[in-house]
Amino acid sequence: MKKFLFANWKMNLLKKDIIEWKRKFFKIYKEIEKNKENVEIKIFVPFTHIFYAKKLFSGTEIEIGAQDMFYKEKGAYTGAVSPLHLKDLGVKSVIIGHSERRRIFKEDEEIIQKKLKKALELDFDVVFCIGETLEERERGETERVIENQILSGFKDIDKQKLNKIKIAYEPVWAIGTGKVATSEQALSAHRFIINLVKEKFDYEIKVLYGGSISPENFDSLVCFEEISGGLVGGASLSGDIFARLVNIALKYT
Ligand code: PGA
Repeated sequence: MKKFLFANWKMNLLKKDIIEWKRKFFKIYKEIEKNKENVEIKIFVPFTHIFYAKKLFSGTEIEIGAQDMFYKEKGAYTGAVSPLHLKDLGVKSVIIGHSERRRIFKEDEEIIQKKLKKALELDFDVVFCIGETLEERERGETERVIENQILSGFKDIDKQKLNKIKIAYEPVWAIGTGKVATSEQALSAHRFIINLVKEKFDYEIKVLYGGSISPENFDSLVCFEEISGGLVGGASLSGDIFARLVNIALKYT
């Protein structure tokens, strides 16, 4: 069972830190031919550092992706990042709908749906993020919220492209808070998502967990078949810690 380990650096790390990250990562993670079939590793870096990171990691197993993109290809959109510019840099993967984009940058379901549609149209591999807030969970609305996020996001997408999407289930209350979901909470959400996509789109989607993953709690999540890996924020900022997470995931492949 293949596992997917995706680092989301968010708005962190400078060039010198990236060199250090790479050194520490490869000290712990040994690239072995057979790993390639068992684990896929990507780092989603800040836009400004994509070119640099791609050069630095070329020839390794690690793919460099982007944390977001705009849904228009070109035009008068000051400050926005075009998917064509990402393509021009050789980027193949993007994150869409991260809760920080939803909350801080006020991206609603319509914007996220347009972004997902455009990303698939241009053949990107997408990490599509969903998850409920603490208030929503406490009100018993977790399933309703994630169902709505999936159905709105997937509206109008080309069903032939479903294999380009991985869903990251990231409960908002677990992101950057140190409060990780329990195995039961994560499993129940993952099963719900897998069944929903199967039922509505006849496709077996891979679901990664995200939210305060660390080497201390990762075993209890990634050991399950329904949890295909992790989207990792804080613990991905040090190469050595992220390498430990990859090694943990490899135990369950
Ligand atoms: P975290 O972030 O691991 O720091 O909680 C995860 C994410 O936002 O993708």
